[in-house]
Amino acid sequence: MLKVAAIVGSIREDSYNKKLAKFVQKRYKDRFDLEILDISVLPFYNQDIELDPPQEVVDFKAKVKEADAVLWVTPEYNASIPGVLGNAIDWLSRVDKVMIGKPSWIMGASMGKLGTVKAQAHLRDILFAGGLQSPVLLGNEVYVGEVHTKMDEEGNITDEATVQFLDQVVDNFLAWMKQFKQPAYV
Ligand code: FNR
Repeated sequence: MLKVAAIVGSIREDSYNKKLAKFVQKRYKDRFDLEILDISVLPFYNQDIELDPPQEVVDFKAKVKEADAVLWVTPEYNASIPGVLGNAIDWLSRVDKVMIGKPSWIMGASMGKLGTVKAQAHLRDILFAGGLQSPVLLGNEVYVGEVHTKMDEEGNITDEATVQFLDQVVDNFLAWMKQFKQPAYV
């Protein structure tokens, strides 16, 4: 089965984005295997230690390397991505550069109406940087706005339109993955 690594841009216990990742993991468990990686264990990126990093970094990069694709699920902080996510990305972008050629798709949830539009725009831009070069699924932009009205305590999405949209995006992601070819220069 297709292996997807989920990187969630919030490390708080009750994170809506964590719940969204878990919902995707559960609902589509027969379509692809989603492993949610824990970025809270990563130390601050520091160039002084990048050639011999702590085990947590080694393990995190290995998980990303062995995944067929990465699903990014992120909140928006100050009109951009959270620092904790930027930190994880910095680790991935250096030395063995495990994101190069790795397909990505993006989702985000917020309590505001716009549902992480700016954060996702920045994230897409970041994923095109030299140290990442990750092809991103086009269109299919999942902005779950006013998430507190669309999810129950257990993290089930109760809004039928949102669930139907996610079903469509998952179909499109899997169709894309079926014919995905890495860029010739990778
Ligand atoms: C936010 N939040 C927020 N929301 C938004 O739509 N645009 C923004 O620019 C910001 N900025 C921001 C900065 C900081 C430091 C915090 C803590 C929060 C609100 C944010 O969307 C909300 O807290 C979400 O619930 C965070 O996602 P998780 O942790 O629930 O996944």
